[in-house]
Amino acid sequence: MSTPIKSDRAAWLQGPLAECTAVPAERKHPWRLILLGAPGVGKGTQAELLTERLGACHLSTGDVFRAAGSRKDCDQSPAMKAALDYMRRGELVPDTTVWEMVRERSHCILNCGGFILDGFPRTLGQAESLKELMGKEKLALSAVVNYELPVDEIVRRLSGRRTCEKCKSVFHVTERPPKVEAVCDRCGGRLFQREDDRPASITVRLEAYERSTAPLIQFYKNLGLLLSIAAKGSPDEIFARTMEKMNKLASN
Ligand code: AP5
Repeated sequence: MSTPIKSDRAAWLQGPLAECTAVPAERKHPWRLILLGAPGVGKGTQAELLTERLGACHLSTGDVFRAAGSRKDCDQSPAMKAALDYMRRGELVPDTTVWEMVRERSHCILNCGGFILDGFPRTLGQAESLKELMGKEKLALSAVVNYELPVDEIVRRLSGRRTCEKCKSVFHVTERPPKVEAVCDRCGGRLFQREDDRPASITVRLEAYERSTAPLIQFYKNLGLLLSIAAKGSPDEIFARTMEKMNKLASN
């Protein structure tokens, strides 16, 4: 299989008026995946690997908020400004704001090449909204991949994370260092540390995860969609584990 062209995800990151440089090819059996797991467990890292293999769109709600945050102040709606404040503190953005943003990008979810949702849904309310949207179009989720990792390792991953300001590729200062310090291997962009990766925000994010997002594990288990994966080891090992479970599911 040829490697799909990496999309700049413009329609997802900037909104429905923007056009992506590459859209996923139409597929007979597109993968429609949700990645679950605590902040820092490695969802974004796995989403990048899965995107390359499956050709589906990587749809991260956190990336949409960060893209809005990097725009000029006057381009941000009051709701988006409030959302960015929640995010800086490590709290969840209210469901109404998140859903408004996802709903106006729903064509990214309904496209024929599939998707990998990363960071959405994060509450039962968001999960119900997604179910309704997909149900109306008679689309079904392929699987919900839940990554599991002890909390001390999660904190280590978050504190060492560095992200490219241009292409959003993710690195880690010791585990996945760039070839040149603070410079992105992919596009040469500057690497920065996310504001919500400071210790105070990390604690708030982990609490929000336990309170609001962890209940989704049971929700998707009840729907027979949950694949739990140990997130220990290298990104390639975790990716291989994920593909093995997904292929088993697809062959059933
Ligand atoms: P979001 O951007 O979704 O952040 P998150 O879920 O907290 O997840 P992260 O991006 O922090 O971690 P990750 O699991 O993707 O890990 P990564 O691959 O980067 O959301 C941010 C905020 O936006 C939220 O707090 C909230 O305020 C708001 N928000 C977003 N969506 C929302 C929603 N739906 N509802 C309400 N609010 C919402 O990896 C982490 C580090 O570990 C990296 O440095 C990486 O290189 C390294 N690493 C990865 N894998 C490995 C490995 N196997 N071994 C060693 N290091 C590794």
